[in-house]
Amino acid sequence: HSADAHRTDLMTITRFVLNEQSKHPESRGDFTILLSHIVLGCKFVCSAVNKAGLAKLIGLAGETNVQGEEQKKLDVLSNEVFIKALVSSGRTCILVSEEDEEATFVEPSKRGKYAVVFDPLDGSSNIDCGVSIGTIFGIYVLKHLQEPTLDDVLQPGKNMLAAGYCMYGSSCTLVLSTGNGVNGFTLDPSLGEFILTHPDIKIPRKGKIYSVNEGNAKNWDSPTAKYVENCKFPKDGSSPKSLRYIGSMVADVHRTLLYGGVFLYPADKKSPNGKLRVLYEVFPMSFLMEQAGGQSFTGKGRALDLVPKKIHERSPIFLGSYDDVEEIKGLYAAEE
Ligand code: AHG
Ligand code: MN
Ligand code: MN
Ligand code: MN
Repeated sequence: HSADAHRTDLMTITRFVLNEQSKHPESRGDFTILLSHIVLGCKFVCSAVNKAGLAKLIGLAGETNVQGEEQKKLDVLSNEVFIKALVSSGRTCILVSEEDEEATFVEPSKRGKYAVVFDPLDGSSNIDCGVSIGTIFGIYVLKHLQEPTLDDVLQPGKNMLAAGYCMYGSSCTLVLSTGNGVNGFTLDPSLGEFILTHPDIKIPRKGKIYSVNEGNAKNWDSPTAKYVENCKFPKDGSSPKSLRYIGSMVADVHRTLLYGGVFLYPADKKSPNGKLRVLYEVFPMSFLMEQAGGQSFTGKGRALDLVPKKIHERSPIFLGSYDDVEEIKGLYAAEE
């Protein structure tokens, strides 16, 4: 494969997904059409984020969302863009967004067989200071097409057909899994296309980095406290791990996926279910981690086995390198 073959043999995300689709002869391209609309949303948000400072998109929209968070203008704008793109794809029937208290049920004439759960802008606290932020999404197929209800989207993460995120950082990178491994695509702004740059991502089995908001240490339970202590003062004489915490889940997870290590958002006395939301943060990132050879644990069990009861339900999460998460599982098992 010579370099110029790469230059002329552009593996765009659309072509990549079409290749995937050819493995499912029964599919009629619905998924490819859905994905192309998600990609459109990501391209829009990427350009809005890059112009945010200039386009006066920085700052608050003056509203608060169901999470009780002050909505940033970009939170609201990104949410509207994704809702419109997903509805207009004609392939969705239920949409769950972090920014909308209620699920969106698509009108029958525009209804398709997919339910999409998404966090239109993750890491909002980092928008105004230019630190990487992102979009996270997960896709379920509905079992039936009659009147869809919330039950059709309150499914365990292991039922997801696909999951991914787009990170708006020094470059715009979209990481996707459709259940056959994980692949990364980088936006080439001159083409307006996402090009395959990280084929078949596998997370290192063990890492040297832990990622957690140490500011919550006072409220951690003892297995979490013990694990973090071991990262700093290893009992086996190995060298201490490095701490890296960006505060945008997409950026912290992307680094963990590429470099290895573990990302934690544990429960604490103030928030017994942790902070991260099951449907559109915990599930998509856990799906990707398992597909990349890592794993994801809630403190009680496998994250993808959770069955959410509410669309904005939260869960503690420990995800990343397989061996590192095993260590955390051991500490929780010892406390049972
Ligand atoms: P969002 O901006 O979509 O509400 O998500 C923010 C989340 C997640 O991105 C990050 O891992 C976490 O908040 C950081 O929380 P702390 O500031 O409490 O560490
Ligand atoms: Mn938020
Ligand atoms: Mn988020
Ligand atoms: Mn968000």
